[in-house]
Amino acid sequence: MTKTSNSITEVYELALQAAPSGILVVDESGEIRYSNQTLADMFGYRVEELLDEPVEILIPGQFAAAHRRHMENYARSPHARDMGSGRDLEGVTRDGNKFPVEIGLRPTRTPSGAVVVATVVDITVRKAVEERLRRHEQELEQLVAERTRELEDAQQEKERMLEQLIQAEKMTTIGTLVSGIGHEINNPLYVLHAAAEALADESDIDCCRAYGKDILKQVTRIAETVKNLSRYAQPGTRHDLQAVDLAEVVEDGVRLVRQSLNDEQIEFEITDGRVPEIRARFEEILQVVFNLLRNAIQAMPGEGRILIGTARDGNFVRLLIQDNGSGIPRELLKRVFDPFFTTKGPDEGEGLGLYIVRQIITRYGGEIEVDNVDGGGTRFEIRFPVDNRVDKPEE
Ligand SMILES: Nc1ncnc2c1ncn2[C@@H]1O[C@H](COP(=O)(O)OP(=O)(O)O)[C@@H](O)[C@H]1O
Ligand SMILES: [Mg+2]
Repeated sequence: MTKTSNSITEVYELALQAAPSGILVVDESGEIRYSNQTLADMFGYRVEELLDEPVEILIPGQFAAAHRRHMENYARSPHARDMGSGRDLEGVTRDGNKFPVEIGLRPTRTPSGAVVVATVVDITVRKAVEERLRRHEQELEQLVAERTRELEDAQQEKERMLEQLIQAEKMTTIGTLVSGIGHEINNPLYVLHAAAEALADESDIDCCRAYGKDILKQVTRIAETVKNLSRYAQPGTRHDLQAVDLAEVVEDGVRLVRQSLNDEQIEFEITDGRVPEIRARFEEILQVVFNLLRNAIQAMPGEGRILIGTARDGNFVRLLIQDNGSGIPRELLKRVFDPFFTTKGPDEGEGLGLYIVRQIITRYGGEIEVDNVDGGGTRFEIRFPVDNRVDKPEE
């Protein structure tokens, strides 16, 4: 049996017909000179039906005119290129169905004139995949945007809750203060009452003047006390920050906490290095100091000593509050700033004091650290960044 061998032209023809891309040859006048089987199948024709037809039968109506113009330009300066890169090209089948295509063009000279060889690939599937991907991407972006919004909302909610917590804590603090304040006002009131009574019966003008002065002094004392209280209770917003002098806060804090003492013998030792002011809300810093002092007192049943110091440390001011009380078990040191962490009974503490203290401090860019003191007791150290604007007084 002899082996039949195809001629080389037959092999070429076979290769062209079986090529996975549609192949088309168009002459200068735009007529189809050759189509392979793949192309004819793609457009729903038989090969013979395409031959000698204008290439526009493969192009949807709305693109056909533009295609003519392109072809004329192309004939003037032909070069190999992809058609429609960056544009969406479409083909149209015999039944009028449009589908996306990718087209490569190569101009060629033949003895019988110039032709263009075009490869055509049906990219319906690729487009669909791309579209799906695009939609996925869009959905993903949307999801990310939604999550971001949710997180922002949560953050805002957290801020709001914190604000409420601070406010609520402040109310408990004020509760503790009120009884002390009562004393603070009652004492001058007694003196005032006595002086006023004496004044009513006094005829000597010099004595009257002296009583008058006494009365004035007591009234000033009361006014001062009320002023301090109202400064603490001010609602205010976070936006009205003031230049705050830590020494002044310490002074107020100690006075307030003294008012809430019962019979405890507490010694306050204040070493007050002059420090630059920080930018904050006075009442919030006062709450920090007050909470730390109250904790210290609660850790020293009956008697104790509290050291309070302020110092400058580069671009920071430091505030130290140290007691000689019970100290904090090493394993609990890390937890004392956690919300609701308390070792006290329900009447003594909610476990929010230090949590709020730390929130307030970090809000102003500061830090707080806690450690035990050798020989017993606890020390809290706070650092606030100095506010340069208030540090240098204007000339
Ligand atoms: N100066 C201190 N000495 C000893 N323990 C302290 C001191 N300050 C805080 N603590 C511990 O930290 C815990 C949390 O304090 P805090 O947040 O103020 O809540 P609370 O005072 O309501 O318990 C306290 O219960 C206590 O165990
Ligand atoms: Mg507390």
